[in-house]
Amino acid sequence: MIESVETDSYHLLIRNIRLPALPGSLKTTNLASIEKNGTTLEVLGIDIGGTGIKGAPVNIQTGQLMAERFRLPTPEDATPSSIADVVLEIVQHFKWKGLIGCTVPARVEHGLVRTATNIHALWLDTPVEKLLSEKTNCKVTVINDADAAGIASVKFGEGLKSQGLVFFFTVGTGIGSAMFYNQVLIPGTELGHLRLKGDAAELYVSDRTRVNEGLSWKRWASRFQKYLDRIEFLFAPDTIIIGGGVSRPAKVALYSKYLSTRATLLYASLENEAGIIGAACFAGETSEAGETGEMSETGEIATF
Ligand code: BGC
Repeated sequence: MIESVETDSYHLLIRNIRLPALPGSLKTTNLASIEKNGTTLEVLGIDIGGTGIKGAPVNIQTGQLMAERFRLPTPEDATPSSIADVVLEIVQHFKWKGLIGCTVPARVEHGLVRTATNIHALWLDTPVEKLLSEKTNCKVTVINDADAAGIASVKFGEGLKSQGLVFFFTVGTGIGSAMFYNQVLIPGTELGHLRLKGDAAELYVSDRTRVNEGLSWKRWASRFQKYLDRIEFLFAPDTIIIGGGVSRPAKVALYSKYLSTRATLLYASLENEAGIIGAACFAGETSEAGETGEMSETGEIATF
């Protein structure tokens, strides 16, 4: 049976976000980026995946979605400009004018895309934050999809109480990784590209490979166990959290009995929304205090 490979989401951070108090008279024109007690609560989270691009406004203090998720298919060519068009459609759907956090399935350094293994080669060195900010006329902060999903897990999900070294893996088209130490993200890890069987591990153990090669869950789990062994040989994680499409309870039930780790092994519960939530929280955390995320006509970011 052919199964669809879920590549869209992954999982998230850490400290509470506190922004300065707003003047009582301030009115917002957008769908909520700012709320009552002077704290920026809502940020639009967008998760760019291999099959779909999804977004929703997120309350970044509770991790709740504030409106139903809106999803559009990822365009066939998946170039930066065609993806940016879809991101704009999502922004327009929510009539959004505030801060936006967005994921990409690649390493992002200072707003630039630095790897392009599972995405169109044109993404390499694309100034993605600039591209999406100009396209949407909002301030957009971009983060790797696995880092975002890991933030969601650590802040609101099963990783909430995990201290020490925590690894979060998203298993979908590729394998994404996020590393936390005492709940602080160490960004930009690419552990799906660790060598296994002479090539990038994700080619051997991703969910796409499981489907393409028609592997039983037992066979796939025995491959994934090799990956986990390698991780535990190189690092000493206290907790490993598995996310992405394979973390759905019905699937976990089919393979978890074949996996064993020294670390505590957990499965992500925020699977479909983790990328959206994590991207929104990351944007809220990294935006400068007082920024509303709305661009003025001169391209400046408005402050309150
Ligand atoms: C990319 C990562 C990404 C992962 C999951 C990998 O191929 O290199 O950056 O997090 O896929 O999408």
